[in-house]
Amino acid sequence: MSEHKYALGVVGTGHLASVLIERLIDSGYLTGDRIVVSRSKALEAHPLDVAVAEDNADVVRDARLVILSTTPQKFDDAAASIRAAASGDHLFISVMAGVSTDRVARQLGDDPIRVVRAMPNLPFRLGRGVTGLYCGRHASSDDMESVRHLFNAGGVTVEVDDESLMDAVTAVAGTGPAYFYYFVEMMMEAGVATGLKRKDAQVLAAHACVGAGAMLLENGASPVELREAVMSPGGTTEAAMKKLHECRVAEHVNDAVLAAYRRSRELGGGQ
Ligand SMILES: NC(=O)c1ccc[n+]([C@@H]2O[C@H](COP(=O)([O-])OP(=O)(O)OC[C@H]3O[C@@H](n4cnc5c(N)ncnc54)[C@H](OP(=O)(O)O)[C@@H]3O)[C@@H](O)[C@H]2O)c1
Repeated sequence: MSEHKYALGVVGTGHLASVLIERLIDSGYLTGDRIVVSRSKALEAHPLDVAVAEDNADVVRDARLVILSTTPQKFDDAAASIRAAASGDHLFISVMAGVSTDRVARQLGDDPIRVVRAMPNLPFRLGRGVTGLYCGRHASSDDMESVRHLFNAGGVTVEVDDESLMDAVTAVAGTGPAYFYYFVEMMMEAGVATGLKRKDAQVLAAHACVGAGAMLLENGASPVELREAVMSPGGTTEAAMKKLHECRVAEHVNDAVLAAYRRSRELGGGQ
């Protein structure tokens, strides 16, 4: 039995942390009274039904499992504030883009500090998230099991055994929802330009995409097979695909994902 007061602590209670906490509570994974979080302006604007610690160090003193969710740029300050309270007894889950488990461990103490790196995405809120996981050098298989269990409360997990792949996970899945929203937005705008009411264009574009996504997950076919099934020879989809090809959209999407990948690497710079 843990002697800690709370089952879960969070340092860096911003947007992602709120999404994680709300889902953990809604899914029944934990009740709010078992969670302690650091103070933040974001929390004042969007209160959560959890305990709020006086300072960051109290979060770490009162919980064995701690999610680190500041932005990468603020991690040095956060680490300095919790270093004295951190120990080998803790398990830290870092969701910060680009920051390596070794860097987190080094900044949190001289003892071996157990760190698992996780890259969730926002559909976690609805139980439809996907989280990439990497087990840092001092974390055990039991630690990974606990972390897997936590993130499965908000969807599925994918584990990588080479930490550098977490930048690719970040570029594809962490950032992924934004690519999708961008595409839906562009489809909506085109619908409006061709005469649809904005409200109808949003429903049509969003459901076309969400329904297509559900088919992709549920019937096991590849996106190429599903795309080909929509395309009848000489039809509307073929005309659209031809245009996407001419405009080199595939290349641009690839460039955008690579930009996210490079930015994730930059954010962890100097580790
Ligand atoms: N958003 C996503 O979809 C997503 C997905 C995957 C991973 N991530 C990662 O998750 C992390 C958080 O992202 P976010 O979108 O939630 O950012 P965010 O909304 O800016 O949240 C960061 C929070 O950290 C707090 N903070 C800053 N310095 C601190 C310190 N020294 N001690 C304690 N708290 C401190 C901020 O407090 P104030 O509110 O007072 O400024 C803020 O609430 C990032 O590292 C990001 O890479 C985000």
